[in-house]
Amino acid sequence: MKDFMQQHTILIVGCGDVGSKLGEQLLQQGHKVFGLRRNINQLPSGIQGISADLTQLDDLKAKLQNYQFDIIVYSAAASEHTPEGYQRAYVDGLNNTLNALVQKPSHLFFTSSSGVYHQNDSSWVDEESPCHPGTFSGQIMLQAEQAVQMAEIPSTVVRFTGIYGPGRNHLLNRVKRGDVAPKNPDQYSNRIHRDDCAGVLNHLINKVFNKEDIKALYLATDDTPATMYEVTHWMAKQMQTEIKTETASRRAGSKRCSNERLKESGYEFIYPGFKEGYTDLLEACPHAD
Ligand SMILES: NC(=O)c1ccc[n+]([C@@H]2O[C@H](COP(=O)([O-])OP(=O)(O)OC[C@H]3O[C@@H](n4cnc5c(N)ncnc54)[C@H](OP(=O)(O)O)[C@@H]3O)[C@@H](O)[C@H]2O)c1
Repeated sequence: MKDFMQQHTILIVGCGDVGSKLGEQLLQQGHKVFGLRRNINQLPSGIQGISADLTQLDDLKAKLQNYQFDIIVYSAAASEHTPEGYQRAYVDGLNNTLNALVQKPSHLFFTSSSGVYHQNDSSWVDEESPCHPGTFSGQIMLQAEQAVQMAEIPSTVVRFTGIYGPGRNHLLNRVKRGDVAPKNPDQYSNRIHRDDCAGVLNHLINKVFNKEDIKALYLATDDTPATMYEVTHWMAKQMQTEIKTETASRRAGSKRCSNERLKESGYEFIYPGFKEGYTDLLEACPHAD
């Protein structure tokens, strides 16, 4: 009981959309939360900002020298979709953070992506599936996952599928313009609401606090992989949009991601499927944009 009530200190590195939501949840549970990013004025109140650039080791060392953290969540995202941008955000930034710490945390979490899977035949993938990504983004993310494993700290990688939620209206806006996905070829897409991303991390962090076993890898996605055809046609119906064009997504890959391991760990989704999540978003913001 004492451990359960104990206050812990958590550093969220790259404290953006998911990190800020997670930070708010941890604050509510009575923990001390630090958020590291370049623009700390964008952090929610209560999260203590550490303004630093992950690409600058000396800067990081100077900013982190007086702190010790129980848990580190590394959830930085690349600012540029280039090999250099990915290398800086996911591999160099992670290694710099680990090198700058004065003391190792008891657990490191790293947010990765289902982009590490190469499967393109609509098959199911899970944590045991092979990963041979053909894209630079998947390859660099896999390198970052390997750096996490080599860090000699108890660690967990959480692979998110496509994150949607407040402010991420790209798909809704496309459908609002009357553009949907064609029926053929089948293209399965997988997603998770931003609040569930934070919820999953919070759930796993609390398992560490409670000294329960957690795995080194989780695939975090909702219950219902769905084809882009199904998703976009459902959205068009909800928004009563007249369908004008059909555009096949440029995104490569069609796979179905399984959340079985995550659910076995006891996580209960706030938004188990895209219909629940997007219904909420449409109610909050019926005209998207
Ligand atoms: N979007 C998706 O669909 C998707 C899918 C799978 C996995 N993911 C992963 O999920 C995680 C969380 O995503 P998110 O949506 O919360 O990302 P986000 O809102 O873009 O937050 C990422 C944060 O990283 C910080 N950052 C970037 N470069 C930095 C640097 N050089 N130094 C310090 N901070 C830096 C940014 O803050 P400043 O600009 O203020 O520095 C930003 O707040 C990321 O790891 C992302 O790669 C995303």
